[in-house]
Amino acid sequence: MPTDDRNNQESDSNNPRHIAIIMDGNGRWAQKRYMPRAVGHQAGVKAVRKIVEYCAKHKVEVLTLFAFSSENWRRPEAEVALLMALFMATLQREIDKLDRNNIRLRFIGDRSAFSDKLQQKMAEGEEQTKDNTSLTLVVAANYGGHWDMCQAFRKVAEKIAAGEFKNQAICEDLINQHLSTAGLPDPDLFIRTGGEQRVSNFMLWQLAYTELYFTSTLWPDFDQNSLEEAIKSFKSRQRRFGHTSEQVLNKSVNL
Ligand code: IPE
Ligand code: IPE
Ligand code: MG
Repeated sequence: MPTDDRNNQESDSNNPRHIAIIMDGNGRWAQKRYMPRAVGHQAGVKAVRKIVEYCAKHKVEVLTLFAFSSENWRRPEAEVALLMALFMATLQREIDKLDRNNIRLRFIGDRSAFSDKLQQKMAEGEEQTKDNTSLTLVVAANYGGHWDMCQAFRKVAEKIAAGEFKNQAICEDLINQHLSTAGLPDPDLFIRTGGEQRVSNFMLWQLAYTELYFTSTLWPDFDQNSLEEAIKSFKSRQRRFGHTSEQVLNKSVNL
């Protein structure tokens, strides 16, 4: 794990500030080796460590990792139990390390479905690392884009009912402020490993203008070189946000 903080890190304005990853393919990685899916998930945790290290070292501000979706409860009970145990064990082992490396940990998703013990560990991890100033590591656990929007709309509706503001105050900024990602920049680069080309209910609102990158590499095989490839692809693209290519090239607009 790197020890330098953001001020010492290399700076490149074309780098993505926020990278969001659907870490897919653990099961297939294991099956290819005639091993149980659990082994693939364990190998997936190792890949997470390397990618976090890379992002902390290279001026990435936010890394969001999709760890467990609101739909993953549909998996066989034994696999869900294994994933929960792995999540707990990983937090127990890694929180101090993240803290020592000045990394801020944050969770998004409906945590009320998790055991009390796990919820407590998640809260402890967030509390312990809340003042850290290097990478923000966002772990999406029991997360779904539909859930995120519903909970935001619910909070907004409650505030309107309480008279805090009127219907007319509803705008994109207001919704942003009530999403689970409030205060974070939207992802610049979305990566999905494992070959599927779908979003699977991940950050639906926040991905509006994100650059999408799909790779057939299975998550346990996704390493720092793979991430560099993805970042290289990102840097080769022209983001226009609705402007024309000429406007962007002339720098006559603020993106
Ligand atoms: C992603 O890998 C990890 C989780 C969803 C928790 P998968 O378990 O979906 O792996 P595949 O897609 O079956 O290979
Ligand atoms: C998406 O992967 C969720 C995570 C990686 C946590 P899935 O493997 O669950 O996605 P689908 O079901 O194939 O779309
Ligand atoms: Mg999958």
